[in-house]
Amino acid sequence: MLSARSLFQEIHDNDDAFRLFCSIAAKGEDQGGWENGRIAALVTDQELAPKIARHGADEEKHGRIFNALLHKRGLHPVDVPDSTDYTMLLERQGIGLAHARLRREEPLTDHDVLVYLAHSRVTEQRAAEQMRLLVGVFGTHPDISRAVRMISADEDNHLAYCHEELLRLAAAGHGREILDVLHRTAHAEIRTYRDVSLAVMARMGDILRWSKPKAAVLALGIHLTYLYDRLLGWRRMTTLSTPAIPNALGEPARA
Ligand SMILES: [Fe+2]
Ligand SMILES: [Fe+2]
Repeated sequence: MLSARSLFQEIHDNDDAFRLFCSIAAKGEDQGGWENGRIAALVTDQELAPKIARHGADEEKHGRIFNALLHKRGLHPVDVPDSTDYTMLLERQGIGLAHARLRREEPLTDHDVLVYLAHSRVTEQRAAEQMRLLVGVFGTHPDISRAVRMISADEDNHLAYCHEELLRLAAAGHGREILDVLHRTAHAEIRTYRDVSLAVMARMGDILRWSKPKAAVLALGIHLTYLYDRLLGWRRMTTLSTPAIPNALGEPARA
């Protein structure tokens, strides 16, 4: 039967599919790491800077972990097609802080910081959900359970940190602005996630030689998920609540 478990198992068991999956994941993590590193260097809030640096260090570590999973199987990363590059596609739509802006040696404004946190609030929600799904599938797998569990715990921390920092900004009077940016970001994200999912599944379908009906069922699932997110699911990305883990990024990154 077709399920998330069978799908991920199939991808894991095929070298080419696994290589593409890990390459896409590693590239996204690396870009997240670079963005956070630049934001940490340009932010003027001295309390926030180390947390953003920790966030960036975690993402870079995740990139290294996905590459290490490849090397463990004697595989090398492949080029990631633009249509599957979630982070880049969001940036191109003006979601989050533009890379051109981050390359300039110019301190970030309060609005920039708010945009960064709202973008992270939405994308970390996605990352946390994806990693929980992977823990559900591979949580006891001898080769990759440790990696997926560690990344999943980190993504939960990142999400908790975003809630906490945005609540702090909301308490300082920026509530309306935060909601507006979260709303715009969440809607762009669910569209981009749909497009990237369709592109990834098309590539996987070619590699794994899926039948037309199987590919069609998967594409339908992606469209239905988008429809749900468009109507209701987006709300889970725009709410703010006090996290169960306080000061989640207050300590230096684990090695
Ligand atoms: Fe990550
Ligand atoms: Fe993250």
